[in-house]
Amino acid sequence: MGITDQIAADWHASLAALAWQVDLGVSDVVGDTPVSRYDLPETNRAGAMPPAAVTPRAAGPGAPSAAGPSTPPVFAQTPKVDAVAAAQTAAARATSLDALREAMAGFDLCDLKKGARNTVFCDGNPAARVLILGEAPGRDEDMEGRPFVGRAGQLLDRMFAAIGLARSNPDPAAALYITNVLPWRPPGNRDPEPGEVAMMRPFVERHIALADPDLIVVMGNTPLFALTGQKGIMRARGAWTTALGKPMLPMVHPAYLLRTPIAKRKAWADLLSLQARLRGNG
Ligand code: URA
Repeated sequence: MGITDQIAADWHASLAALAWQVDLGVSDVVGDTPVSRYDLPETNRAGAMPPAAVTPRAAGPGAPSAAGPSTPPVFAQTPKVDAVAAAQTAAARATSLDALREAMAGFDLCDLKKGARNTVFCDGNPAARVLILGEAPGRDEDMEGRPFVGRAGQLLDRMFAAIGLARSNPDPAAALYITNVLPWRPPGNRDPEPGEVAMMRPFVERHIALADPDLIVVMGNTPLFALTGQKGIMRARGAWTTALGKPMLPMVHPAYLLRTPIAKRKAWADLLSLQARLRGNG
């Protein structure tokens, strides 16, 4: 192998290793040895504070220094924030979908945001009669900034196309509006935690109130739990219920259908039930 091949191979191997780590949810790089950013010269510090605001750390609390006996450093106590209350306030202030999108993009209390590339807000026609509520963005959605664009999303599009509904349709009667419980990808596509769902629920409620669909379809356990507090999508699926004052149909998640094609038969029955409701026969 020549030196050029070697460099190319290293480059591809490095890129593959990096992509793998991003897939696992790695969002920060930490060195092997600790670096005190306070000891670096001013010009080398990213986002350095003015010297007067810096509390010396290297010597540790109570250690003597050249300037005489030190007093223990005082660390400011960060007041505890009620994230659910903050989400409720931010969501309630939004009087349009655009304002809600901005409010969510500016909401910093959910740690998932730190590892996400995009705040995935919605896709489709906001005037659609049917709103689909999914779980959370995966890798493809995080990269593209739109919900359900990966393999599960492509299956979702085919499923709803089979009953004449498409997210891109300008006619509200034939359109879909799609959003998720969480707008940020959980690292490594892990299941959302109940605390994350509780924190983002006020935004989901407001989202549904502002979009004001005729019917809601929840795809999978997380949105079922977020809207009803109920668990067990396999038992709940196919049975119409009411959530946030609207008729709601629970369905299994298309990612589950990709893994378990036999379940498509039941999903088809659910789609026909949705179609009958839309036609006023359900
Ligand atoms: N699964 C979801 O629940 N939502 C998405 O946006 C993508 C996959």
